[in-house]
Amino acid sequence: MSEDVRIRAEALREQIRFHNYRYHVLDDPYVADAEYDALVDKLSALEAAHPELVTADSPTQRVGAEPVAGFETVIHEVPMLSLNKTVNAQDLGAWIDRCQDLLGDEERMSFTCEPKIDGVAVALVYEHGQLVRGATRGDGETGEDITANVRTIKSIPLRLLGDDVPTRMEVRGEIYMSNADFEAYNAKALEQGEKPLVNPRNGAAGSLRQLDPRLTAARPLTMYCYSVGWVEGPWQPRMQMEALERLVGWGLRVNPEVTAVEDLSGAQAYVEDLLQRRFELGYDIDGAVIKVDSLDQQRRLGALTRRPRWAIAYKYPAEEATTTVAGIEFQVGRTGAITPVAKLEPVFVGGVTVSNATLHNMDEVERLDVRVGDTVMVRRAGDVIPQVAAVIVDKRPPGTHPVRLPVACPECGSEVRRAEDEAVARCSADPLFCPAQRKEGLKHFASRLAMDIEGLGDKLIDQLVDAGLVETAPDLYRLDEATLAGLDRMGEKSARNLLDALEASKQTTLARFIYSLGIREVGEATAANLAAYFGDITTLARATSEELEAVDDVGPIVAERITSFFELPANVETVEGLRLAGIHWSVVAAPIVHGLPLAGQTWVLTGTLEAMPRNEAKALLQGLGAKVAGSVSAKTSRVVAAPGAGSKLAKAEELGIPVMNEAALLQLLRDHGVE
Ligand code: IVH
Repeated sequence: MSEDVRIRAEALREQIRFHNYRYHVLDDPYVADAEYDALVDKLSALEAAHPELVTADSPTQRVGAEPVAGFETVIHEVPMLSLNKTVNAQDLGAWIDRCQDLLGDEERMSFTCEPKIDGVAVALVYEHGQLVRGATRGDGETGEDITANVRTIKSIPLRLLGDDVPTRMEVRGEIYMSNADFEAYNAKALEQGEKPLVNPRNGAAGSLRQLDPRLTAARPLTMYCYSVGWVEGPWQPRMQMEALERLVGWGLRVNPEVTAVEDLSGAQAYVEDLLQRRFELGYDIDGAVIKVDSLDQQRRLGALTRRPRWAIAYKYPAEEATTTVAGIEFQVGRTGAITPVAKLEPVFVGGVTVSNATLHNMDEVERLDVRVGDTVMVRRAGDVIPQVAAVIVDKRPPGTHPVRLPVACPECGSEVRRAEDEAVARCSADPLFCPAQRKEGLKHFASRLAMDIEGLGDKLIDQLVDAGLVETAPDLYRLDEATLAGLDRMGEKSARNLLDALEASKQTTLARFIYSLGIREVGEATAANLAAYFGDITTLARATSEELEAVDDVGPIVAERITSFFELPANVETVEGLRLAGIHWSVVAAPIVHGLPLAGQTWVLTGTLEAMPRNEAKALLQGLGAKVAGSVSAKTSRVVAAPGAGSKLAKAEELGIPVMNEAALLQLLRDHGVE
């Protein structure tokens, strides 16, 4: 075998390691996924032809180890400690004072503030830059050897970057599953009839406990490193922050949220800010960890009963709590969809008191087998809708019954139907007959992204419908001041304001108007595409399925929803009634402007952007000629994934569509002179 082949293989490995680093550590991919895959394929082919070339740290060697009967025990050279906890600023101040007392008045201290990720603590040992061992924390003294499983985690380098790596070093951190990966994994598991994971933490822990590393490899895990356990060689860090920065240089992931602060007020500000942004981070945290930054001061402060005096955990309200199910109700939505909702004994979770949790649909009810009287675990994380994550069957009282779908709509008594292949059950009544559907339809009509009628909230709509004052949307525009002022919690002033808001809403856009009609499957993005394509409501109302399918984002199902919407005389009447009430829009032709930099491209935004609201990013992209769609398909040109991105990101990855982060989007906008 020629030296040349060996060099080529090593060059490919170098490139792949570099791209891993850009992707996993810097979160700033340098090449599209397809290009990366091509490099890996090339290396695999080369190694297949020359098996003697394969090295243990080759990026192709992540999965390969055979299943084991059990894990070996590992004794930690330096014990892995746990943390003292606090839940208030006062204790945080007391902790800093105690450190100052122990060190003496003269000493200057600074601190690092870090998110406390709710995952699994592990210790990685690198020798001459090679990953040689991964172990769980265990009881802190001894853990389990999970090297084969750790090797399958793509963001953990099998070999460190650079030629200045320590002779031997142990790096500690938290292995976790992001919320988006957790949701995507569960969506897929449910689709395939498998048991979903209860929460990301259990997902991570369970994955690492697999005796067959191939099973671990199938779970989307990642890791943030938070300390150096011990290190041999010339490099001896002096500060925690310095150590973390060095780890990044060697290709290890460190949480970008780690921040150095000078004093109590800095730490307090960090803790508050992180709590505010907790649900936008994209992974579960249970608090923040504040550490004395100087490693020498850490040594002098030492530990007491397995807990260091130099660090403290500031705990946030738990994202999960157990409570009991007081009842299960069925709510009727705008499209007649019937959603089971668990009525809970109020419980404090994720910082708020929760007394309702959605159960999504009957499939979910059956899967959980949740019953009235059950003790359940409620989870409120990542997003704000509380979920029933699990039923604690051991605590089930005697005499409970499985929940059954009602035969009649709880709002109007019409028959409830559930199509063979659908998870969702629906009230079969005409939307105008069922008051629940009518109310929800009006709420959608008035909502911010639809007609944006300020002051027309859910409670007021319920009142208006219950009092028989409003049946359909055009009725809203016939309300008068005296009637409105006479309603509960309304006075003359609020009545006047509402009438002004109704008047203002008459000037709108065709896209908003289409969206406000609440046609099933026609979201904001599809409405905008329809508006741009048809230009007026009459043409849209008369369009055939074939014509509709020519519009971006519109497939046979959506086309069918639109045609059947306009087939109902009541809907046509509503549209006409609204036009007669004075709703109008300026007719602006929106032809594809060739020559605009993003003309002909379709973009999708997902997750929570930090620098600007999504609508603004969308408008800026549209200004550059791009179409912005609501869902990812083979026609999508690019996806912008911000923290919290979920199934759309997974879909993009599945289809091999280029994905960029927010920083890259901002750069692109700047490059095109848009700020
Ligand atoms: S420092 C002695 N830093 O919290 C120092 N721990 O109770 C202990 N954890 O299971 C570790 N994020 O895995 C530290 N930024 C962070 C952390 C963190 C999460 C976990 C850790 C351990 C527990 C300590």
